[in-house]
Amino acid sequence: MKPEDKFIEILAENLSLILLPNEKIIELDLGCGKGSFSTELAKKYPSRLVLATDVMIGRLRKLYKRNKREKIENMRLLRGDAWFLFNQCIPDGKLSRVHILCPDPWPKEKHRPNRLISSEFASRLHLKLCSDGVFHFSTDDKEYFESATGVIEKSGFFTRNDNAISDVTNIKTDFEKRWNQLGLDVFHAAWETS
Ligand SMILES: C[S@@+](CC[C@H](N)C(=O)[O-])C[C@H]1O[C@@H](n2cnc3c(N)ncnc32)[C@H](O)[C@@H]1O
Repeated sequence: MKPEDKFIEILAENLSLILLPNEKIIELDLGCGKGSFSTELAKKYPSRLVLATDVMIGRLRKLYKRNKREKIENMRLLRGDAWFLFNQCIPDGKLSRVHILCPDPWPKEKHRPNRLISSEFASRLHLKLCSDGVFHFSTDDKEYFESATGVIEKSGFFTRNDNAISDVTNIKTDFEKRWNQLGLDVFHAAWETS
């Protein structure tokens, strides 16, 4: 246990719903990694609450230290699996925007079932977003981009509107910066709940 762990909320079997404020706009960065996107988002919107979540505690520890240095106080760090978070921890209708940015692409055919975006995930996502909520997805993997786009659109829960992320297109995640430095594009899309 490290000293910063007391600032990281561990999502565990004995936890039911997490308490979230009613009066705030809440944005979730799911699989935040080292969290550059979460940090810049929290700085841009100090009155909003940013939930930064990942399964890897080491990444959240680094993010905590960075937030402390940069005096960011509108972010909560949650350690846990995306499915567990959606199935058990986030109350329905609470999230204004969910960002899933450069998730593990699982490019090999045999590993594709591990991908996060699926029709079941789309329905959980819809349940957790508020009535005018937004889902933001990005990846450098063109095939994953097309298949995820297809899954979200076929779900019938969302309408594509890339303008819903025009305020954050200049905020790059750590992975996006890495891919861009290698000359690779990262594709973004956004949908509103319908
Ligand atoms: C490729 S990294 C991208 C990190 C960050 N979004 C970025 O773009 O820099 C994917 C991240 O998702 C996290 N992750 C993978 N599976 C997850 C899951 N089931 N639930 C939550 N986080 C997960 C990994 O630990 C990793 O930090």
